[in-house]
Amino acid sequence: MHIVNRNQVSTIGAFAPVLCHVGLGESQEFVDILIQIMLDWTMGAHFKLRVYSQVAICKLIEAATEKGYTKIVTRYEILYKSIQKVLQMAGANVDNVLQTDKVFLYYFDINKHYNLHSIFVDIPKLNKVSVTEWDSIDLDLFSFNDIPVSGNVINIENSANKRNNPDDIIVDYSVNNLQKKILPDYDLMDRDESKTKHHPELILIATLVNSSANLGGIARTCEIYGVKQLVVSDRKVLTSKEFKSLSMSSENWVDILEIKQDILEEYLEEVKKTGYITIGIEQTAESIKLHNYKFPTKCVLVLGNEKEGIPSRIFPFLDVCLEIPQFGLLRSLNVHVAGAITVWEYVKQNSLL
Ligand SMILES: C[S@@+](CC[C@H](N)C(=O)[O-])C[C@H]1O[C@@H](n2cnc3c(N)ncnc32)[C@H](O)[C@@H]1O
Repeated sequence: MHIVNRNQVSTIGAFAPVLCHVGLGESQEFVDILIQIMLDWTMGAHFKLRVYSQVAICKLIEAATEKGYTKIVTRYEILYKSIQKVLQMAGANVDNVLQTDKVFLYYFDINKHYNLHSIFVDIPKLNKVSVTEWDSIDLDLFSFNDIPVSGNVINIENSANKRNNPDDIIVDYSVNNLQKKILPDYDLMDRDESKTKHHPELILIATLVNSSANLGGIARTCEIYGVKQLVVSDRKVLTSKEFKSLSMSSENWVDILEIKQDILEEYLEEVKKTGYITIGIEQTAESIKLHNYKFPTKCVLVLGNEKEGIPSRIFPFLDVCLEIPQFGLLRSLNVHVAGAITVWEYVKQNSLL
């Protein structure tokens, strides 16, 4: 602990709640040593570490009071009051800092909650981890000799919801934000499927795009947003390593058509006859800014080549060109990025607004 103390101050924050829980079951002398170690951290420059150790010390002193550890109660009475005052003054900032450890610090009781259900379901749930991360866990598949599956009468969730003392710090989970893993079927379940899953009248033409990696990324975007069809110049690209490294197998679910670059004009003419509006994604003198454009439902989006952009021979076959506003110094976006931004704008207008 002393090595950590010297070299990795920022990691002790995560260590403090654990120390606190270790101390809760220990003797008066041990708790005293823990408080003294953590005392150093309550004054440091690192805000998170300060808050964690202050809360942990308070918890230890409260437990000591319950256990009748009079030496500790007397010695740290003023410290306890001072820390309480400081935490109160910091208010919401304390909540923000503690975020995911709040439940662990305030409500975890090793005697009641040391079981798989608490670890894999209750704690993630209370910390607003996406439902997909904990709901599908089959606890029966775990077998640990020393950790029970469940069996706790009061689970953490109930403890956390039940605030006995009106002075308890209120846990504001709204500040939490965590990366979530999406299970598409699950996450789309409560939406209007006909609107969100597929865009049967959106075609993305990437015939002019050469890089296999860019095409892989574009295929992935098409799958995610249910684009009706992706057009490429050569389907052989689908087997290349670079394509696969970005496509994440999306080629298995996206309808991919092959149209060679030299017949792109004819293809555009054909789709126009079936009512599609042809849209060039390109920076041109006549381009409309993406955010000012109202997409028709039947759309063909044409992406340009990485080096040359959209060649001039194609413009007569385009009804309109759209430009994504830029603010930096570079001349243009990566073509996959430009495609993804445009597809998203279409999807937003057609499915979400
Ligand atoms: C790297 S850019 C092409 C090169 C560009 N014409 C140049 O002068 O450097 C590749 C393609 O990405 C798309 N693109 C990139 N930035 C864009 C933007 N700001 N607005 C619309 N399309 C963009 C266009 O389809 C473009 O043809």
